[in-house]
Amino acid sequence: MSINVALDGPSGAGKSTIAKAAAEKLKYLYVDTGAMYRAVALYILSSGKSPDDEQEVISALKDIDISLIHTDDGQRIILNGEDVSDRIRTPEISMAASKVSAVPATREFLLSLQKDLAKENNVIMDGRDIGTVVLPHAQVKIFLTASSEERAKRRYDELIARGESVVYEDILKDIEQRDYNDTHRSVAPLKKADDAVEIDSTCISLEKAVDRVIWIIKDAVAKESRREVPKVRPVVKGRKTPLFKRIAHEFLRLVAKAIYYIYLDLHFEGLENVPKDGSNIFASNHRSYTDPILISLKPKVMFSFMAKEELFKKNIFFTAIIRIFGAFPVARGKGGAEAIDMSIERLNKGYNLVIFPEGTRSKDGKVLKGKTGVALVAAMAQVPVIPVGIVFEGKLKFRRKVTVKFGKPIIPKEIGVDDCSPKKLRIMRNEIMASITELVEGNVNKL
Ligand code: DC
Repeated sequence: MSINVALDGPSGAGKSTIAKAAAEKLKYLYVDTGAMYRAVALYILSSGKSPDDEQEVISALKDIDISLIHTDDGQRIILNGEDVSDRIRTPEISMAASKVSAVPATREFLLSLQKDLAKENNVIMDGRDIGTVVLPHAQVKIFLTASSEERAKRRYDELIARGESVVYEDILKDIEQRDYNDTHRSVAPLKKADDAVEIDSTCISLEKAVDRVIWIIKDAVAKESRREVPKVRPVVKGRKTPLFKRIAHEFLRLVAKAIYYIYLDLHFEGLENVPKDGSNIFASNHRSYTDPILISLKPKVMFSFMAKEELFKKNIFFTAIIRIFGAFPVARGKGGAEAIDMSIERLNKGYNLVIFPEGTRSKDGKVLKGKTGVALVAAMAQVPVIPVGIVFEGKLKFRRKVTVKFGKPIIPKEIGVDDCSPKKLRIMRNEIMASITELVEGNVNKL
């Protein structure tokens, strides 16, 4: 999602200087919408039309093509293929821009160009109606003001520095006239959006104003990222998986049990910790491909677990077996949102979910660092997590001692995990990993 900053205010308040500096610092795209209105004004004047004649302005719009490009020299405005960035900065164009901008058709004409730029980029867009009309949903809205005398003085100093001979009173009159035009036009008048932060730059340096703007943006972005915390979607317990699936699963479980008990020296511990109902998460260390089966041999509840999509393409027989054992495919690289949604869907259907928080198999049996995915599913679904430790002993291939240990259920609410904020997810993950480590290695090792 792109970040949109709307920076509105009257002429000469320092919007462009501030927006440019803040955009450069934050690596955002700076969009000067005033330059677009100026380009329209330039076209009107240079084609001998009057900016006061609404019909003439409207009929000229179809012949105008405006785009913004970004070069090493900063933003350039292109009018019908020609770079007019320097030609639009005259008092005559300023006044004409104020007039053409009062024509609703002109505003309509530039609106989609402005909206499109904001859709695709993090932007700081300056103008008069950005926070109210162009980007009403901007995450940041700033209204920059300064007294008309201060603004006139800044413009006067700027023009004198450029070697132009100007009279302060004329500039002040000009600014006051444009203010009047911009605030009194019927469409999209210059107006502070209700939710905009006002900065008065009369008595502060522009550097200070830039710092303040950057601070406001950073603060809003931080708030925004906190807002994107996934919502809790508590799973309703008590749903039963379909009977035919339970029968098929039970049958296969007995067959697998017979085979595994012959092949391995198999032990279970903590079976009293296994809930009798469904919709729980079993978070286990990961030693072998058969871990999901090992976990589901003893408890008489139906399990489900994520498996790499490729496993489902091996052969029909294998696919059928792992499906009966509750596997559901997750495409590589799509682990995020899709896997989370599917996990919650399974829990909602009454399945117990097996998740391997380490994300990969441990070669030496040591418990690896856990990822927060399991914590996210548990916090979102607000379901108990039963830690599982699978311990392989010895090097025998046949009759190797394997112990599957079930730990005490971890209930998210009981450890204060009642939302999905990064902090709560870390608490959940650490609790789960400490329990798994304790089961596997016999010691508490909180991260
Ligand atoms: O910001 P500026 O001075 O370059 O703007 C030139 C004129 O364009 C100004 O008088 C008002 C108008 N304008 C507007 O109406 N809406 C905008 N979003 C930007 C500028």
